[in-house]
Amino acid sequence: MASTMIVTTTLIFLSVTVTVNSHIIPPKIDEKLLEFPLNLEYFEAEYFLFGSMGQGLDSVEPDLAAGGPPPIGAKQANLTSLVKDIITQFGYQEVGHLRAIKKTVRGFPRPLLNLSAESFATVMNDAFGSPLSPPFDPYANDINYLISCYVIPYVGLTGYVGANPELHSPVSRKLVAGLLGVESGQDAVIRSLLYERADEKVVPYETTVVEFTEKISKLRNKLGKMGLKDEGLKVPKKLGAEKKVQGNVLAGDEDSLAYGRTPKEILRIVYGTGDEKTPGGFYPNGGNGIIAKTYLRGG
Ligand SMILES: *[C@@H]1O[C@H](CO)[C@@H](O)[C@H](O)[C@H]1NC(C)=O
Ligand SMILES: *[C@@H]1O[C@H](CO)[C@@H](O)[C@H](O)[C@H]1NC(C)=O
Repeated sequence: MASTMIVTTTLIFLSVTVTVNSHIIPPKIDEKLLEFPLNLEYFEAEYFLFGSMGQGLDSVEPDLAAGGPPPIGAKQANLTSLVKDIITQFGYQEVGHLRAIKKTVRGFPRPLLNLSAESFATVMNDAFGSPLSPPFDPYANDINYLISCYVIPYVGLTGYVGANPELHSPVSRKLVAGLLGVESGQDAVIRSLLYERADEKVVPYETTVVEFTEKISKLRNKLGKMGLKDEGLKVPKKLGAEKKVQGNVLAGDEDSLAYGRTPKEILRIVYGTGDEKTPGGFYPNGGNGIIAKTYLRGG
């Protein structure tokens, strides 16, 4: 009797363990794809938290940084109350995203991030093909900060779209769908706020908001080296929804589906080097995790 109970209990225990392995914990094969986006989520968390409140993860949720170095040059931006309010929400959303990924996979500590004004100015100079004078300051005001934000969640979004079909388990796909939903929302909010001011000049330059977005998107397409996956706030009609419109408040392909990017393409863009093996830009030492490290070692 007693031994039957032990056997039964053991069997129940075993079957529970199996269920856990196949449904709750994602398979090993998904791990590197699930941890990779931490690189971008750390960036977004720090940039939004600092931009809106003047302090980052080390004040808000230090455990999530896991001992990684604090970001270089991040600071509070000069924002009006509406934009500050929205960016504060985005910042806390990113804290949740970091936690959600780290609850699912072990992940890695925060990589070194260069969020200095100069780092963004360099991206703008590359986008313009010549140095802007004065150098672009992302922290100066609403419009500059929103333009700098145009650079980020969208890249994360394309990464989640790209990763989803590569994932093996429903648990992994559920996580990625949840992250994608909110990242797309952030991108939509940023693009809408910019779209409202599309034809304004970005003082003191002679360039409009639309032209900034076009140049940034063009730069990302060039660095990613995989064709058109990025579109500014206005496009030629042939690239608009159903080839009917020039307004492009959301970017999408010929069926208005979101573009996807691989980790390799994302690294080329966020390093600003067009090469996944050569770190730089926002990631002076490169990204963390298996995928980024493999490229950095020349793999
Ligand atoms: C941060 O980026 C700027 C612009 O590229 C560069 O001048 C500066 O040296 C960088 N800082 C570090 C510590 O890498
Ligand atoms: C902050 O931004 C406002 C515009 O929103 C601008 O008028 C003001 O000069 C800026 N302040 C600083 C210190 O740059």
